[in-house]
Amino acid sequence: MAREFSTVGVVGLGTMGAGIVEVFARNGIDVVAVEISEPALERGRATLTGSTDRAVAKGKLAAADRDALHERVHFAVGLDALHSVDLVIEAVPEHLDLKQRIFAELDRVCHPEAILATNTSSLSVTEISVATTRPNQVIGIHFFNPAPVMKLVEVVRTVVTAPEVVADVEALCTRLGKVDVTINDRAGFIANALLFGYLNHAVGMFESHYATREDIDAAMKLGCGLPMGPLALMDLIGLDTAYEILDTMYRRGGRDRRHAPVPLLKQMVTAGLLGRKSGRGFYTYERPGSPVVVPDEATPLAAEAALADGARAIAKVGVVGSGTMATGIIEVFAKAGYEVVSVTRGMEKSATVCEAVKTSLNKGVVRGKLAEADRDAALGRISWSATLDHLADVDLVVEAVVEELSVKKALFASLDEICKPGVVLATTTSSLPVIDVAMATHRPADVVGLHFFNPAPIMPLVEVVRTIRTSPEATATARAVCAALGKTGVVCGDRSGFIVNALLFPYLNDAVKMLEASYSTADDIDHAMKLGCGYPMGPFELLDVVGLDVSLAIQRELYLELREPGFAPAPLLEHLVTAGYLGRKARRGFRDHSHR
Ligand SMILES: NC(=O)c1ccc[n+]([C@@H]2O[C@H](COP(=O)([O-])OP(=O)(O)OC[C@H]3O[C@@H](n4cnc5c(N)ncnc54)[C@H](O)[C@@H]3O)[C@@H](O)[C@H]2O)c1
Repeated sequence: MAREFSTVGVVGLGTMGAGIVEVFARNGIDVVAVEISEPALERGRATLTGSTDRAVAKGKLAAADRDALHERVHFAVGLDALHSVDLVIEAVPEHLDLKQRIFAELDRVCHPEAILATNTSSLSVTEISVATTRPNQVIGIHFFNPAPVMKLVEVVRTVVTAPEVVADVEALCTRLGKVDVTINDRAGFIANALLFGYLNHAVGMFESHYATREDIDAAMKLGCGLPMGPLALMDLIGLDTAYEILDTMYRRGGRDRRHAPVPLLKQMVTAGLLGRKSGRGFYTYERPGSPVVVPDEATPLAAEAALADGARAIAKVGVVGSGTMATGIIEVFAKAGYEVVSVTRGMEKSATVCEAVKTSLNKGVVRGKLAEADRDAALGRISWSATLDHLADVDLVVEAVVEELSVKKALFASLDEICKPGVVLATTTSSLPVIDVAMATHRPADVVGLHFFNPAPIMPLVEVVRTIRTSPEATATARAVCAALGKTGVVCGDRSGFIVNALLFPYLNDAVKMLEASYSTADDIDHAMKLGCGYPMGPFELLDVVGLDVSLAIQRELYLELREPGFAPAPLLEHLVTAGYLGRKARRGFRDHSHR
């Protein structure tokens, strides 16, 4: 029989603590909520009231249930109020000495059977536990932000945590409607160990002006389907907390440079820009604690103003290539009203591409998403050719041929001879340096990358890659074209992986390394990222969909260009590729897909 928890204590009512109080009280458990001072207590109470009022306004909580919830919470200053609780969760700032002091005090105050839990994200639960005389009753209960919403709880057992304590806490998590994964005491546990390298990398991109905050966030939301971009997430977590987590992970987790906090973070924390809680972080908020972003001096001009910024008029577009991407891109431009010249290496190929575009447009008609007349008009706008000469009068060329530098360079040299002056020449490469392609022409200022995502007609994101020679006009034109296609164009520099792949694949690779180290299972890791961070797929699900060979190739490129030791491909990934376990397409990858 699992132990019954009727009263719990929560220490620290900040970002996490206030949410944790709500989780318990919502599930019928009495809570003693403790802070360090009266003003801090008031802030915590206000956070709880704000959150439950919002839930009532949204119809997610009945007013009577809210009132009952508040009745269950007893607020107090100082730890003495915790003398008769069954379990305490500590959620004070991420400092080891502070947590150890609090645990020593809790050990004195709480009755001997009480379980003492920490919500730490990265500190050693073991080191915290030895500050007490009952390390076997100390455990990590790591909630995710926002605690009332996120389903996951990481239960962290140390080498001395008693098995029945682990079992009792697991049962408690179930009672709270959470999904728990139980793991050993390692820096960052599952989710943060995979998340924070990515977040820090995104901050580094922002710091080096590789892309704007809006573009970095849009890229990850639209390119990967994440619930929020990395910089908006940093603001939600709190930059001070994020800094401490990174710093601890760096020191505890083998001094991986990717966890060394980007210097800008420290500067922002020192300047009091802590994210949502202080009203300003990477973004500016309506007021401290508010989730509403308001414009500030870094907010980009309205779209129309940006378009006027030297963008050239585009009416006719050439698309070179006959693969999946070219086919999708032809459809996207034709549907958006552009005249399109498709060039392939032979009329047979043109016929195949034409069929593929027709099939895809017909699907749109069948699904009621496209009127027949619009389908016919789109098809009428496309002309099919097997010679580049037909690109002499287009305003924009999008190249989507095989991913080989020599082929692309030769093509761009030909385009340079054929196309009229002022044309924007774009490559869809996902891994080659755009500058190499640009330098095959005598007009590198007019060359950009236009990295569409697959399937192009559906994915809302395009990365606009600007090289060190690309003119502002060419970039503005590319951005305006993306907008006219109904897509979000994000502008970034010409580095391996651009924004999305550079942030996504190292995270996937880290997940493989974590599996390889037997820290957790593929199922639990997938669960952690989906339920703890709101990702649409876990890393192993995604790897199997993308293809392990494709993922390995991208990871290798990143490693070769950036020379970051942490980017070295996971040996397990290499072995699976060698073994032919390439993912869904091979019916086996990290999982067996032969029965599906
Ligand atoms: N922010 C997140 O997204 C997140 C997610 C999961 C876990 N965590 C972890 O939760 C813990 C709390 O983080 P946070 O982001 O809520 O921090 P926070 O800064 O928002 O809140 C900390 C609170 O602790 C209070 N406090 C400080 N000293 C105290 C004391 N001696 N007694 C009682 N209260 C005290 C502070 O007044 C403050 O209200 C950290 O260990 C953090 O790593 C954070």
